[in-house]
Amino acid sequence: PRKIIIDTDPGQDDAFAMLLALGSPDELEVIGVTAVAGNVPLARTTLNAQMVLELAGRADIPVYPGCERPMVRSLFTAEYVHGDSGLDGCDLPAPSAPLGEKHGVDFIIDSLMAAPPGTVTVCTLGPMTNLAMAMVKQPAIVPRIAEVVLMGGGFFEGGNTTPAAEFNIFVDPHAAHVVFTSGVKLAMVPIDCTYKAILTPGWLAELRTVGSNTAIQSAGMAEFYQRFGNEKFGTDSYPLHDPCVIGYLLRPDLFGGRMCHVAIDLVSPLTAGMTVVDWWNVTKKPPNCMVLRDLDNDGFYALLLERLARLP
Ligand code: BDR
Ligand code: CA
Repeated sequence: PRKIIIDTDPGQDDAFAMLLALGSPDELEVIGVTAVAGNVPLARTTLNAQMVLELAGRADIPVYPGCERPMVRSLFTAEYVHGDSGLDGCDLPAPSAPLGEKHGVDFIIDSLMAAPPGTVTVCTLGPMTNLAMAMVKQPAIVPRIAEVVLMGGGFFEGGNTTPAAEFNIFVDPHAAHVVFTSGVKLAMVPIDCTYKAILTPGWLAELRTVGSNTAIQSAGMAEFYQRFGNEKFGTDSYPLHDPCVIGYLLRPDLFGGRMCHVAIDLVSPLTAGMTVVDWWNVTKKPPNCMVLRDLDNDGFYALLLERLARLP
C-alpha cells in the first residue's frame, strides 16, 4: 500500500476522509495523522482526530499536534459550519491512546527523511501550515515527498470564505504559497471539484442501514454538517470536500483535471487567499499543480459507502 500522512483539522468532512483512508488498507497505509488549527482550534482538532481513529478501531495510529496558528495571519475558525466541537452531530468517547510524542511538523520531517525518497504522500485537509513549516524547517524533505494532495482553493466556483478564497487557503495563504512554490509534485482538489461531491439524504439513509458504529456516528456527523446546505444552497444536500483527496488517491479515474500554473494571492485586501489558476495557460508559466475539476459523483459515493462499511 501507498504510505500517507494525513494532515487535518477535523471537521466532519475531514473525519470522512480519514475513515475512507482507514477503510482502504489494501491501497493506503496511514503512517500518522498530524493535526492543525483550522475549522476549530488545535486542541480540538487534535482530540477530534484521535476520536475518529478510535471510532475506526485504529488507535494504534498516532496523532501529532502541529501548529496552533497560521504562519502570518491570525487564526480564523469555522464553528459556523462544523459546530463548536468541530465534529458536532456525533457522540464519540474520549480517546484512550496517548498523543504522538513529537510536534506534527517534526513528524512530517522525520517520516520523510527516514523513508526512501518518493514513498510518502502527504494529504492536507486543512490550512497547510504544518507542511509549509516542515518545508521551511527542513527543505530537504521537498524532493523526498511522493506527492502532496490537498483539499483547498477554488477558481471557477469562486470562494466559500470570501468571494475569492476557499477556507483552507484563506486561513493560511502564506503556507499555501510556500507549498505551491516549492516544486513538490502537487494535486489540488478545489471546491470546483468538491462541489460535485454532493452528499444526499438518500446516500445518508444507505449509510445508516450499514448499522455499524462507524456508519451510525458518521451519518450523525453528516446530518449535522448537511444542514449547512439548506442555509447555503437551499437544498438538502451538501458537498463532502475532504474525502475527495483520499478518493483521488484510490480512484484517480473518477476525477478529471489538468496541469496548470497556480499562484496564491497574498496581498490584495479583496482576494487574499485566492488560488489563481492559469487554466488556459495564458501566462506560459510552467505548470506546478494538477488541478482537479471534474468528479464522477456516483462512483465516488459508491466507493465511500463500500469503504465505510468495512469499518467496525
Ligand atoms: C474546507 O474547509 C473546511 O471547513 C473543510 O473541512 C474543508 O477542508 C472546505 O473549504
Ligand atoms: Ca478540513
